[in-house]
Amino acid sequence: MVVRDTSSIVQLVDAQIDRVVTRPGTPPALIDSIRYAALGPGKRVRPLLSWHACVAAGGRGPESVPVGAAVEMVHAFSLVHDDLPALDNDDLRRGRPTLHRRSGEAMAILAGDALLTLAFSSLADLSLPASRVMRILNELTAATTGMIAGQVYDSLGGLPSELTDEERVVLIHRNKTGALIRASAVMGALSGPEDSPETLDAIVRYSEAIGLMFQIVDDLLDVTQPSEAVGKRTGKDAELGKLTYPGVLGVDGSRARVDELLSRAEEAIFPLGPRSAGLLDMARTLARRDH
Ligand code: IPE
Ligand code: IPE
Ligand code: MG
Ligand code: MG
Ligand code: MG
Repeated sequence: MVVRDTSSIVQLVDAQIDRVVTRPGTPPALIDSIRYAALGPGKRVRPLLSWHACVAAGGRGPESVPVGAAVEMVHAFSLVHDDLPALDNDDLRRGRPTLHRRSGEAMAILAGDALLTLAFSSLADLSLPASRVMRILNELTAATTGMIAGQVYDSLGGLPSELTDEERVVLIHRNKTGALIRASAVMGALSGPEDSPETLDAIVRYSEAIGLMFQIVDDLLDVTQPSEAVGKRTGKDAELGKLTYPGVLGVDGSRARVDELLSRAEEAIFPLGPRSAGLLDMARTLARRDH
């Protein structure tokens, strides 16, 4: 196992993203916008999860970088489009103007298109048998489609009418945020040498718990934190009439759900032993994060 601090993992992932997006013949203004969106001051939660899941599944970590970079690029695309006037209409992201405020709406749409497409080309750098690469490709495709489905429910509605409010918000969150978080961990595990169904199952259960938890915390930050603390406009979910966890269960009820989901994640990876220390640490950090 290669032990590294978070910043050196982020450096490897950012170098991979930079390499993938710098294609000869691409207009410099497009590359500039893509780099602004994908290499800005984000937390890189998803590639870090890929790395730690790879280690938890018996890998060394560096072999997860192509999948970590890919999922981070899909995430960056999702944020660029999420901020557009037609969706959340936000001006601030990661403490800076959103891409459409900086480079214009047309460029933001096109940079998102390019990020999504180029994300998949990062998978060509995996040194794995083709059958394993195909599994990874399917995970990323399903998760991206799930994220888009979640954004449709979140922005346009159309949820099954028989669901309770909590079931609705769970369905939105599992899709719009949980799907990419799950794929980050699953693809990280699949990028390692081991293919044990028990390990993969533990990582799936862990990632499904923290995926929902992550968006509940995001909803909580929207109602409890000032904009300056999180680097994006807060108080906007209620303004836009979004279905959120604090809206359905209140702040205390939502915090209790976060604690339950953290316990569920911890229990899921317990059988993996010391190899899962990185995943354990991430779950705890993400439950308590303040930005
Ligand atoms: C924000 O994700 C959008 C959600 C899915 C909740 P992050 O909180 O991971 O955003 P960055 O990448 O750190 O800016
Ligand atoms: C975003 O959810 C989920 C995505 C697919 C991007 P939010 O709309 O709550 O994310 P923020 O709060 O703008 O980062
Ligand atoms: Mg949104
Ligand atoms: Mg938003
Ligand atoms: Mg939010």
